Amino acid sequence: MLKSRRQHARRVDKSLIKTPAEIEIMREAGKIARHVCIMAKETVRPGMTTGQLEDLAEDYITQNGATSPCLGYTPAGHPPYPAWTCISVNEEIVHGIPGQKVIQSGDIVTMDCCVELKGFVADTALTFAVGTIRPDVDRLLKVTEEALNIGISNALPGNTTGDVGWSIQKFAESNGYSVVRELHGHGVGRSMHESALDVPNYGRPGSGTLLETGMTFAIEPMLNMGKKDIRTLRDGWTIVTADGKISAHFEHTIAIGERNALILTRD
Ligand code: MF3
Ligand code: CO
Ligand code: CO
Repeated sequence: MLKSRRQHARRVDKSLIKTPAEIEIMREAGKIARHVCIMAKETVRPGMTTGQLEDLAEDYITQNGATSPCLGYTPAGHPPYPAWTCISVNEEIVHGIPGQKVIQSGDIVTMDCCVELKGFVADTALTFAVGTIRPDVDRLLKVTEEALNIGISNALPGNTTGDVGWSIQKFAESNGYSVVRELHGHGVGRSMHESALDVPNYGRPGSGTLLETGMTFAIEPMLNMGKKDIRTLRDGWTIVTADGKISAHFEHTIAIGERNALILTRD
């Protein structure tokens, strides 16, 4: 029954399919990007600024012969992005610009890092606690990370992007959280955002794009403690929850293998 619905699913353009050799380069880029996220989690101390975490990231990426596709990124309607990483604190969901903001005990911080190496890109993010956080915030982090893992476990050849989104949405909402609608996962590889492939964190089973071996994309649930609505700050980038409540974000870049998803962003 599911099969007949999926026969109508969109097929991705063949130009987005990567060879095994290209996927290995993405894995190299992904290792650097993930290390930046883990390093931020392990290094952060109350009193540090988000700009200090950015500086560590820039040094590490440079030392590894890689670059950031974020710096200078200028999609329509945005000013050029001015940093290598996105660092978002508490009610900031994504695209926080690192700078003078001082991180305090009790905060949660998202490090989102995209790395370009040898012409290929990988994208990964994680949210971590600084000092002691409230138990309800800790639960949000655990559920958001688990939502990503559930999405990845549904990213199987023959499934669709709708199967992935539905699995994330169902898990998030059954845990009492809301799913941001305006920001999605995306194709990634030859560029940071391969816009022909869209991977929402919500949806209907069998809808969207059919998943085929060799596709590479980012899955990145953003879960809010309060309502799903967002707004953009006057810097033109930082996206926050409209109600000011806490939000968490986890992201991996994956490749669709012969039988399952391969995570390309591992330290
Ligand atoms: N890493 C982000 C993503 O997950 C993209 C950031 S674009 C930037 O899609 F310009 F804000 F850095
Ligand atoms: Co990202
Ligand atoms: Co992304």
